[in-house]
Amino acid sequence: MVKLRAGTAGGAYDVLIGRGLTERVGELLRELYGGGAPGGGIAVVSDANVWALYGARLTAAMESAGLGFFSVVLEPGERAKSLEGLRLVYDAFGRGKLRRDGLALAFGGGVVGDLCGFAAATWNRGVDFVQLPTTLLAQVDSGIGGKTAINVEAGKNLVGAFYQPRLAVMDTGLQDALPAREYRCGMAEVIKYGAIRSEALLGKLAGAASGGGAAERLEPALMAEVVRECCDIKKGIVERDEFDRGERMLLNFGHSFGHAIERAGSYERHNHGEAVAMGMVMAARLGEDKGMTEPGTERALREILASKGLEADCGYGAEELLPHMEMDKKRGGAGLRLVLLRRLGDAFIYDCDFQELREGMAAW
Ligand code: GLY
Repeated sequence: MVKLRAGTAGGAYDVLIGRGLTERVGELLRELYGGGAPGGGIAVVSDANVWALYGARLTAAMESAGLGFFSVVLEPGERAKSLEGLRLVYDAFGRGKLRRDGLALAFGGGVVGDLCGFAAATWNRGVDFVQLPTTLLAQVDSGIGGKTAINVEAGKNLVGAFYQPRLAVMDTGLQDALPAREYRCGMAEVIKYGAIRSEALLGKLAGAASGGGAAERLEPALMAEVVRECCDIKKGIVERDEFDRGERMLLNFGHSFGHAIERAGSYERHNHGEAVAMGMVMAARLGEDKGMTEPGTERALREILASKGLEADCGYGAEELLPHMEMDKKRGGAGLRLVLLRRLGDAFIYDCDFQELREGMAAW
């Protein structure tokens, strides 16, 4: 097991990475509470898929440490990350008598983590929160950093809070059950970390077999190393910019184009990681066209994405994507804060107005 320590204004916490940590989660929670237990009870929030696969494993781990808990098992999928899903969680917290000095443990992918985190941030004005993410994407990205949210009619993640966990446990063995598409989705975010901060990470991926089937996945020791490196990059960025006012925006590399691609496909054609993969290529291309990105970066990115089974081209043109990007403008004004690359491993924020973006994309 590898341990990182994240220090944020919202509190310092350990990020533990290794295979088989779910079996040890009861013992790890005991350590967190100095050998005791949270006085106000423990709620485990999960979804039906994760619970069917791993509920018994988690239950055994809690029982062997003498920790009682109640579970809140939601329907799988993005729809749970809603006001209705939040109401189900609050109602369960109420029935389970979760008190102010209690703990909410998120046991699932990004949807469960975001929803459980927001419920923890707001229940009794804040109860302890622990992340036990089950997907590669959540282990390298949403499982640390304290962004919690639900979706509302006006948009995704529009209601939320920065609320740091007290502990994040990345059990890389849980990835074994991930369908190939989910695994690739997480791999796109791994490549994102390499693209913005670590060319060496991309080198490690390029040298390793991967792709569709379980047999082609990164071998366990390398995967643990890759998750550690991604968490370390994210931890550093979050420590310097917890509230997303500057450097943290670099984590959105490929996401402005990616969100537009997801929307253009009505959130059905491409999952998040697939769209981000395509978005990263578009950002590299724009940067190269404008002379801001080292020539050859787009090609190198395409190669690494292809080696992990990720498509680089979305097939949508400027006229299909730009209306969605215009809706996505995060800061108002006449343009977008895009993340571009100087070269692989070195990203920066570029304020790009829509006219410039339109002209750039029209040339493709
Ligand atoms: N997932 C991007 C962030 O945490 O800022």
